[in-house]
Amino acid sequence: MTKREMLEELRAATRKGAPYSALLALLNDRIDSEIMDAAGKELKIIANYAVGFDNIDLAAAKRRGIIVTNTPGNQISDTVAEHAFALILGLAKRISEADRFTRAHHYRGWAPKLLLGTDVRGKTLGIVGAGRIGSSLARHARLGFDMEILYSDPNRNMELEKKLGARKAAFEALLKKSDFVSLHVPLLPSTRHLMNARTIGLMKKTAFLINTSRGPVVSEKDLLQSLYKKKIAGAGLDVFECEPAIDCDLTDRMELNKLENVILTPHTASATVETRQFMSELAAKNIIAVLSGRKPISPAA
Ligand code: GLV
Ligand code: GLV
Repeated sequence: MTKREMLEELRAATRKGAPYSALLALLNDRIDSEIMDAAGKELKIIANYAVGFDNIDLAAAKRRGIIVTNTPGNQISDTVAEHAFALILGLAKRISEADRFTRAHHYRGWAPKLLLGTDVRGKTLGIVGAGRIGSSLARHARLGFDMEILYSDPNRNMELEKKLGARKAAFEALLKKSDFVSLHVPLLPSTRHLMNARTIGLMKKTAFLINTSRGPVVSEKDLLQSLYKKKIAGAGLDVFECEPAIDCDLTDRMELNKLENVILTPHTASATVETRQFMSELAAKNIIAVLSGRKPISPAA
């Protein structure tokens, strides 16, 4: 729904004397104070159908006494982590590129150096943000592929350290040492453009960047320049700075979709039948709880 459609719907409902008491928001619905005011005084809960909730003005909701919830949990975290790992394997094995090559009938005979990729096992995975998703990825990578795990996070994650032998590293040290860097931080003022020309420049030339968090955590312009200048080996991106556009600046000659060493997916990291079911149920249960006067199950914090 566009913002205008949402405003019209909310105002019409209020005029009819049947205002909304709950909103179920998608991550691309920007819920600001104007929307909250259009919904009126009956609005008690905004249930976001997503883990991330940077699309909702939390302070504005708090001022109005509106509860905001999201859909975190092991189910969605493991699904997103699997997708991040799919991007890691896809980049290392050049799967998308090889598929394009083969479909185009460019395969004319076996050759020792055709589409050489890189191994994943034993390599170092740098996890930026060791919350539920980052931890799940660490588990997949360590137990499934024997990767070395580095993580950067404001907090120490003893479970990762004890169970997986993960090591905490300063963000910049992690960038310098990792063969794959995967981002699992929320979008906050402090994480906007966390990956920029300088920080991408710290990565190894042979390293890959994976982003399944939020587009603006990476400066798209700087990433493009780094990829064009071959400062890193490639990128796997599920989210984009100017989503749904995959290029913020259409006049720029540099385009993500011209690069062979980039895998792009349309914000589908959590798109499995099982996880969509989980998200739907949790969002609905949050709404039912709050409208029945109970505490929400998963308040956004
Ligand atoms: C998806 O991006 C989510 O936050 O759930
Ligand atoms: C998601 O639930 C996270 O904490 O990373």
